[in-house]
Amino acid sequence: MQSVNQKKYSQKKYRFLLLEAIHSSAKEILESEGYQVELLSHSPKEAEIISLAKNYDFIGVRSKTQITENILKSSKHLLGVGCFCIGTDQVDLTQANLLGIPVFNAPYSNTRSVAELVLAEIVCLSRQVCDRSSQAHIGQWFKSAVGSHEVRGKTLGIVGYGHIGSQVSVLAEAFGMRVLFFDVVKKLPLGNSRVCETLSELLENSDFVTLHVPDTNQTREMITAREFSQMKKGAFLINASRGSVVKISDLARALREHQVGGAAIDVFPFEPSSNNEKFVSELQGIENVILTPHIGGSTEEAQAAIGAEVAASLLSFARLGNTRGAVNFPNVDLPVLHSDSHRLLNVHQNVPGVLSDITKIVSDLGANIQAQYLSTDSKIGFLVMDMEKGSADQVSSQVANLKTSIQTRVLY
Ligand code: NAI
Repeated sequence: MQSVNQKKYSQKKYRFLLLEAIHSSAKEILESEGYQVELLSHSPKEAEIISLAKNYDFIGVRSKTQITENILKSSKHLLGVGCFCIGTDQVDLTQANLLGIPVFNAPYSNTRSVAELVLAEIVCLSRQVCDRSSQAHIGQWFKSAVGSHEVRGKTLGIVGYGHIGSQVSVLAEAFGMRVLFFDVVKKLPLGNSRVCETLSELLENSDFVTLHVPDTNQTREMITAREFSQMKKGAFLINASRGSVVKISDLARALREHQVGGAAIDVFPFEPSSNNEKFVSELQGIENVILTPHIGGSTEEAQAAIGAEVAASLLSFARLGNTRGAVNFPNVDLPVLHSDSHRLLNVHQNVPGVLSDITKIVSDLGANIQAQYLSTDSKIGFLVMDMEKGSADQVSSQVANLKTSIQTRVLY
């Protein structure tokens, strides 16, 4: 008999509910693999999602739809959640973890979009393009070469040489810039870029400084008056990382005193929560300052890439059990399932004795395990066993009946 938390799936059976007008790239990918997909344009409230989710194995949301504890507990079929965006705060990640539901997102699909904006801003700052444009819009013709420079041959200092920082490095070199970078982790320099041992070394030697670090205790207000005083006089600052990284009052002062020659800021300590809310910043009205409303990663290409990236993660979990990149779940990266095997996926409470209980079931049934993978976090364990076709159903039904089992699924 099939127990409550034992699930069996043929490869074509999964059903996906995509909300909030997720980019059509996701629907196309999932449908091209033969899955049933419903794409809705709105962001339903809790009661509506509970009623809809009954019929689906996967839900995809963007940033508005809240996936609450109630929804997760009521959605008996739910196997996984896709956040078709960067943030995952809209999902109750702890509850999803306890219920054995991995949550995926797309942290790197907008990397290129941010890098391109940074390059554009480097040129705009160097030529005061935004100020000249604002003047022209109000009828002022201000043609002058004074203080305008090419970026070729200038030095760009990149703080944080991760996905975005390293893309900026490649694009900047194509522009003929010299590139320095500083990172707390040892990184391979791309092209002719050169590593700095300290942040001070980077600040002292750069004509442009661009920040690409995450928001951590170490990066919070890492750029203050002290760092501005270490920069070359008249050098430029670009921040498209997180608003907490720069102390804005110190930047405003450094700009007014012309210690900093200009800045392009895309992220702020306090950002309006919607387009209807007023934006206020000490940087407003200062010369050669480009202010943008956190649009670094906001392009149609990035939206399409997000659709494709999250759809691929959900597909890989549905078909193979891969949880690589899941933000709330033990990560495993699994090979393709051999045609002679069935794959048993078991999420269990991470308590003593579980593995010996499962091993006993396998050995009592004389099942032959061809490959086994285990990954755990503090609350749950994720066990994957590839076994001969004949034995998977029996093993699965007994494993699913263990009190410690949360989700058990067999892939055929
Ligand atoms: P990543 O994780 O790939 O790279 C971050 C790098 O910073 C890593 O190499 C890390 O070792 C380094 N790092 C961490 N702490 C550091 C410190 N104290 N000093 C120097 N280096 C340090 O992240 P990714 O994808 O490159 O993103 C960078 C930032 O850009 C993140 O804060 C992200 O939230 C932000 N972002 C902003 C967007 C926008 O619309 N403006 C869009 C996408 C990302």
